[in-house]
Amino acid sequence: MTRKLVATAFGAPREVLTVIDVPRPSDGDVIVDVKAAGLNPFDVKSVKGVMGTDPARLPLTIGNEGAGVVREAAADTGFVAGDRVVVYPASGTFAQTVAVPAGSAHRLPDGVGFDEAAGLLLAGATAFDLVETLDIGADDTVLVHGGAGAVGSIVVVLAVGRGATAIASASPRNHDAVRALGARPVSYGEGFLYAVREAASSPVTAAIDTVGSDEAIDVSLALVGADRVASIAAWGRVDDGITVLNGSSEASKKHRRDAVEPLLAALADGRVTVEIAGTSTLDDAADAFEALAGDHPRGKYILHP
Ligand SMILES: NC(=O)c1ccc[n+]([C@@H]2O[C@H](COP(=O)([O-])OP(=O)(O)OC[C@H]3O[C@@H](n4cnc5c(N)ncnc54)[C@H](OP(=O)(O)O)[C@@H]3O)[C@@H](O)[C@H]2O)c1
Repeated sequence: MTRKLVATAFGAPREVLTVIDVPRPSDGDVIVDVKAAGLNPFDVKSVKGVMGTDPARLPLTIGNEGAGVVREAAADTGFVAGDRVVVYPASGTFAQTVAVPAGSAHRLPDGVGFDEAAGLLLAGATAFDLVETLDIGADDTVLVHGGAGAVGSIVVVLAVGRGATAIASASPRNHDAVRALGARPVSYGEGFLYAVREAASSPVTAAIDTVGSDEAIDVSLALVGADRVASIAAWGRVDDGITVLNGSSEASKKHRRDAVEPLLAALADGRVTVEIAGTSTLDDAADAFEALAGDHPRGKYILHP
């Protein structure tokens, strides 16, 4: 048997999350003992029912990325028991053991810790998808909404790495962190558009939104055409002609697959870092869910099953 975090209903994490004992999963090419699992806003939204409330999905399996040690693997996967791996995309990483298809298991580079690896790939692959979709290059001045967030901070690193100039919105408490990534920080809220124009030494040519607010999209469209605006959260603004990504298109799937090895290499050599906001066990995971749902500090929440 193995322990697994599930939601028994859709609702407030503290009321619906519980740990259950289930048979150890075996339906997959690679069986991994999970040492760390990254918590994402998607998990919080899933538990709250924002992504749907089909009772047939209960008890709800959660957790889409993690890192750990191979327990057993099919011979043709190239993995053997004891290998350190990161798993993404995956389903049910908030558990002591998870089974994944071979394509979702990736060797962990030497020197990379389980916590950082477990928090890298979902946000990082999404960031890569955004930057690829708009084909950000050295001629771009790109406005990044949410530049201190998990996705936005990697968008900044990738854009700057391509030679682009990045202007990133963040709360004042995060301006130094955004500056350290190579972006010019601006505050959202009153005066936001003016602040972006002040920060830009040449016209803004693209906008990447990881926030989803009307303000983020309105400011973006005041600066660039809808064809140069990509979002992962502004589902209510699709009619404006902007691109909103959820990873389901063939192009997005390819971008996100292609992102994995470069992101792991970048984590290994320090070009990308994963800040850890906090760690918790499965039993106190609701604290992390509630924190991520609120006005949380920078960084990823990591569960230790
Ligand atoms: N569609 C997809 O494929 C996909 C994939 C991954 C994530 N997502 C979604 O993308 C969003 C971001 O995910 P994440 O993991 O990066 O979350 P995160 O780490 O919590 O970052 C969100 C950032 O948004 C900023 N923010 C909060 N309220 C804001 C506002 N009113 N205006 C401007 N910025 C604001 C915060 O910055 P400050 O703290 O500096 O204020 C925070 O750093 C979530 O909604 C998530 O569900 C979608």
